[in-house]
Amino acid sequence: MFTEVEHQRNGLDLIKIDNDRAKIVFSNYGARIVSWKYEDNNIVLGNVVEADEFYFENPFYFGASVGRYGGRIEEGRFELDGKSYQLEQNDPPHHLHGGPQGMNRHFFDYEIKDDNGGFIQIIFTTTLKAAEDHYPGDIKVKIIHTYDIDNRWTIEYAAEATETTLFNPTNHVYFNLNRDNKEIDNHYLSSSDLKVHLLNDKNLPSVDDVVDLNALSDHQPISFKEIFDNEETPLHAQIEKYQGLDHPFTIGDELIVENKQFLLKMETDMPNVVVFTFNETNNWDSDMNIYKPHSGFTLEAQSLPNDINLLGEEAPSILRKGDAFFSKTTYQIIEKSE
Ligand code: GAL
Repeated sequence: MFTEVEHQRNGLDLIKIDNDRAKIVFSNYGARIVSWKYEDNNIVLGNVVEADEFYFENPFYFGASVGRYGGRIEEGRFELDGKSYQLEQNDPPHHLHGGPQGMNRHFFDYEIKDDNGGFIQIIFTTTLKAAEDHYPGDIKVKIIHTYDIDNRWTIEYAAEATETTLFNPTNHVYFNLNRDNKEIDNHYLSSSDLKVHLLNDKNLPSVDDVVDLNALSDHQPISFKEIFDNEETPLHAQIEKYQGLDHPFTIGDELIVENKQFLLKMETDMPNVVVFTFNETNNWDSDMNIYKPHSGFTLEAQSLPNDINLLGEEAPSILRKGDAFFSKTTYQIIEKSE
């Protein structure tokens, strides 16, 4: 394995890792994954040319580190230790993905560690400031992307805050295991636990109102198409409304997503995974927008969106002053037929 850094315009760097059959690219802009190719197959959505302006303008958070808070916070309001906070309502009337100054817009400092064989690590660092995003406290954030010879991409988050605050980071990569990046409906999902949290009429999830996909499929892998077409549960009306999934899941120890050629294995210590099937793609007026609905799906490891308003002081996203935050998520790509 080896790395190469390409400095583009406007301070954007591409950090390119080459591992025999797989090539993976990260950027300091949003500590994001830019591309992941297995031979000639694009495993994640990105731009055809890895050009800088694409990532500044792309409104879909492609591959970005998202936070402080992944997902929506109802009306941008929450209470913590008896104090009320109002955040920007950048997804009216809600606050989404940490607001306009979120991690996806940060230029991270970084350092590359190469162990000469087994893995390559890129250690990204930044500081999130209360003065910029109106959450309490500043947070020093470290995001470590590791790629290893087993084609496993690991993301580790470490953080510490100057005041008690919220921290619910995620990565917004879109996967597509099909060779031609045709719609993802043919991908199958499986996990020992596979529950979808229903949304209310304000686009916010419920803690307990869930649909058990394993009960629907008799514990067999279930495809996106089967999920989209199933009319037996209250999920159906929501799929029609959103034109697909935009829902938090509860999963077991690992989540498998597969097509005929590849198997993607995800493991995380975060409580939930938001699956968004890229339902509307036409709201970006740009020549660079070549994306069709359902041309990718996200697996956003995080706490339940709006957990602070749903669970109060019990919300997993609360990060106490001085406590060390750590979380780890891995995605491994396995080719089925050699
Ligand atoms: C998802 C969110 C979607 C949409 C998307 C960004 O995480 O749940 O509703 O905003 O990010 O395009």
